[in-house]
Amino acid sequence: MTFPIPTLRREHGQLMLEDCALADLAERFGTPTYIYSAAAMTANFGAYTQALSAIDALLCYAVKANSNLAVLSLFARLGAGFDIVSGGELSRVLAAGGSAERVVFSGVGKRRDEIVQAIEAGIRCFNVESVAELETVSQLASGLGRIAPVAFRVNPDVDAKTHPYISTGLRSNKFGVPIDDAFELYRRAAELPALAVSGIACHIGSQLLDPAPVAEAADRVLSLVDRLADAGIVLDHIDLGGGLGIRYQDESPPAIDDFLAPLVARMQGRRETLYLEPGRSLVGNAGLLLTRVELLKQGEEKSFAVVDAAMNDLARPALYDAYHQIEAVVENDLAARQYDVVGPICESGDFLARSRMLAIRPGDLVAVLSAGAYGMTMSSNYNSRPRAAEVLVRGREAFPARQRETVEDLMRGERPLPAA
Ligand code: LLP
Repeated sequence: MTFPIPTLRREHGQLMLEDCALADLAERFGTPTYIYSAAAMTANFGAYTQALSAIDALLCYAVKANSNLAVLSLFARLGAGFDIVSGGELSRVLAAGGSAERVVFSGVGKRRDEIVQAIEAGIRCFNVESVAELETVSQLASGLGRIAPVAFRVNPDVDAKTHPYISTGLRSNKFGVPIDDAFELYRRAAELPALAVSGIACHIGSQLLDPAPVAEAADRVLSLVDRLADAGIVLDHIDLGGGLGIRYQDESPPAIDDFLAPLVARMQGRRETLYLEPGRSLVGNAGLLLTRVELLKQGEEKSFAVVDAAMNDLARPALYDAYHQIEAVVENDLAARQYDVVGPICESGDFLARSRMLAIRPGDLVAVLSAGAYGMTMSSNYNSRPRAAEVLVRGREAFPARQRETVEDLMRGERPLPAA
């Protein structure tokens, strides 16, 4: 059985991430715990920079995929910029040592205080998604006596051929401005004195397995950029978003360089810098969720392995019916049996995996693979469950990247109602 995480291997029956035995990490940090591999993240980032070496480019890591400060600081040190969608993400980037001049701010509903925060921090660009937002940014920048750099996020109306919840570039989606309206909007933006029209952005969806729709979106965007230049509106960058998919089960996503080749070919010889906003492809297969089997339970039709992680820790299976490979951490000679791997939460949707052959006993550890992206960042406290710990592995070193939450953490800021 091969693992989708390149830095994960079995040694004497034990799962090892880089040079750390997962069983030791469970001993030291408890479960459930997210474990990330610095080497895998670094290698993915290196594959992007390598593939982009022939052109001017800025990689803005999509913070929403995994926003742990240790992860952000690793990417900052590698020279990454960041794609943020909230003031909270901006604060994280700055706390991790990232620089505001490399931050782009996406999102359909930026709040005024978040816009002010970003203008004051001096971010690289606002990816503006509506006329209303354009006016707000202009007004706030003008009130602060600043010039805000803006790009329109255009909706190129191409089908990214992915899960409908994570497809974002269709006419029917809430994202961006229609590409056919963009020309007029740029003319309007160019007249607003507190704005610097700086680029154009698009992002058509996530977990993309086919490079063709991105190239098609790029063609539509580039032809608009050329029309704008003819009209005297010259942009300095073209942001083609993120979206490259990863292998969870038996998908075969294009390699990073194959995915980028058509984009690099289109950008060669052009004056604009290419920005990209990859998230999942940098961190998804650099992480796993380590959890312990609480008990095994024979239902009427199925057997269940009840583990100590749940849908509040990893929402993807419940939300998208997503597949994550499950591996016993220590091999044994039990006969494998078929289980649904479920958490303790009071919902039938609380499963991490269904119908998997596993050789496990109560108390054993299992690893839920490919959980480095949209795992911890989508976790919640449902059922008053403190969120998991996070550990970043670097060779033999296991860095405690986030303490496990406590129940006191959950209640902070609340209080009982006094008697009337
Ligand atoms: N840029 C923008 C504007 C985005 O909306 C996204 C993701 C990205 C970049 C990064 O996309 P990536 O390279 O990671 O595909 N929770 C879902 C994925 C939601 C993606 C949302 N936007 C999941 O777990 O599959």
